[in-house]
Amino acid sequence: MARYESVLDAIGGTPLIRLTRAAAGLRPRVYVKPEWQNPGGSVKDRAALAMLRRAEADGTLRPGGTVVEVTSGNTGIGLALAAAHLGYCTVVFTGSATSKEKRDQLAAYGAEVRLVDAFVPRDHPDSMRSQGVKFAAETPGAWFVDQYDNPANPAAHYATTGPEIWADTEGAVTHFVATVGTGGTISGTGRHLKDISAGRVQVIGADPLTSKYAGGDGSQKYIEGAGHYLHPEAAADVWPLSLDTGVIDEYVAVEDQDAIDAVRLLARTEGILAGGSAGVALAAALRVAADLTADDTVVVLLPDSGRAYLSTYFNDAWLTANGFRGPAPAEGPTVGDHSRAAPLVEQHEQPADAVRRLAEQGASDDDVVLAAYRRDGRLLAPHPSDLLGWTTPAGLRGAASVAEAARPFGPRLGVGLAVADPAVTGWDRAEGEVAPVLDRGRVTGTVRWAALHPEPQLPEQLTTPLTEPAAAGPGR
Ligand SMILES: Cc1ncc(COP(=O)(O)O)c(C=O)c1O
Repeated sequence: MARYESVLDAIGGTPLIRLTRAAAGLRPRVYVKPEWQNPGGSVKDRAALAMLRRAEADGTLRPGGTVVEVTSGNTGIGLALAAAHLGYCTVVFTGSATSKEKRDQLAAYGAEVRLVDAFVPRDHPDSMRSQGVKFAAETPGAWFVDQYDNPANPAAHYATTGPEIWADTEGAVTHFVATVGTGGTISGTGRHLKDISAGRVQVIGADPLTSKYAGGDGSQKYIEGAGHYLHPEAAADVWPLSLDTGVIDEYVAVEDQDAIDAVRLLARTEGILAGGSAGVALAAALRVAADLTADDTVVVLLPDSGRAYLSTYFNDAWLTANGFRGPAPAEGPTVGDHSRAAPLVEQHEQPADAVRRLAEQGASDDDVVLAAYRRDGRLLAPHPSDLLGWTTPAGLRGAASVAEAARPFGPRLGVGLAVADPAVTGWDRAEGEVAPVLDRGRVTGTVRWAALHPEPQLPEQLTTPLTEPAAAGPGR
């Protein structure tokens, strides 16, 4: 056991844990590195402390200064804990998609959390990044951390994570698997392992299927922290400078459902509770390990714990609402039984062209059509955030644009939701006449309010003439 003189000294030095049951039947040894054992609960404590120390050393951050960052949570937590210990203020800009657990943890360290609309292109003046940069520029003594472009982020992993893995495997590691967010973890750790092994260690980037890094369409995913999303109206696809693409030998693309399955399996078979990005890494690692030999040693970095995701990946109601498999199937009819496939029109299409194309495809005037943002090379059915709303060929006719014809959706409904579920029965028609139906998080169809809320039938005794004798039923 170690003894530390401050919480900052307790950052890093996480162990390796061998997978026995989840990797059963595989030839190589598979170890995970549980990064939630850092004091703030994630791998990002390492980068946060290193970036802060670098800013102090170069004079960008002075006593009494304010640490400003744009983050989906974990980097902010690492910064907030280090700043609390060292006497700085912290202001974090984050989106409402960041889990409540992480936002509450930030506040617990005394950080100021500014919730901003995350669905804005990076280059727009209202984007999270633009707001963070502006706030830092206008606040005396503020330092904008900029984890995406800060060289101290990968350097932290070159100095600590890589050497730990090398030492703890006694140089036996052959494959290192990690997800890529800012790229700091994989770039620094991967570069160190390559340098020390003379290029022998293979570095595998585990990426959500739709992430741009592995060649996806850039559409949104359900896994926090991993991958690179591209806003449909972004002027350019800007990759972080913290990412050293040259260090990654291979990408493995993982669907959200597979990541969720992996992390749920890990909890149930190994007793290891890890977060969603850990599921991406684990699913990729198990796929890679299937082709390796008994001479190989795979190390998988698990960025944070499942504790922050008990209301999502480990929650049956959340999974069902978003159309993910996992919970026991509903009894009785489901939303999926009523779902109808809907064709798609893209925002840039001329409405008249879209109407002609839909007619050629056999659509009727009042068929539901999905009005979507433009997305090149779509890999899967659209993510809900890629939709402007719904319309019909009749609605498109005469509209100036697809956006003008788009009408708001009712609530998102998972395919497996029971028709009797309160999420369905409580759907107020005024919210929207049509709801998107989600299968594994993607909109694969729609359902009209009327299809799930049929007109109440008059009770039988009122439709049956009172004079007619009731027919004897079976067993009478
Ligand atoms: C949960 C989680 N997983 C993965 C990552 C990716 O790590 P990196 O930014 O070092 O690529 C992050 C980064 O914030 C994260 O919070």
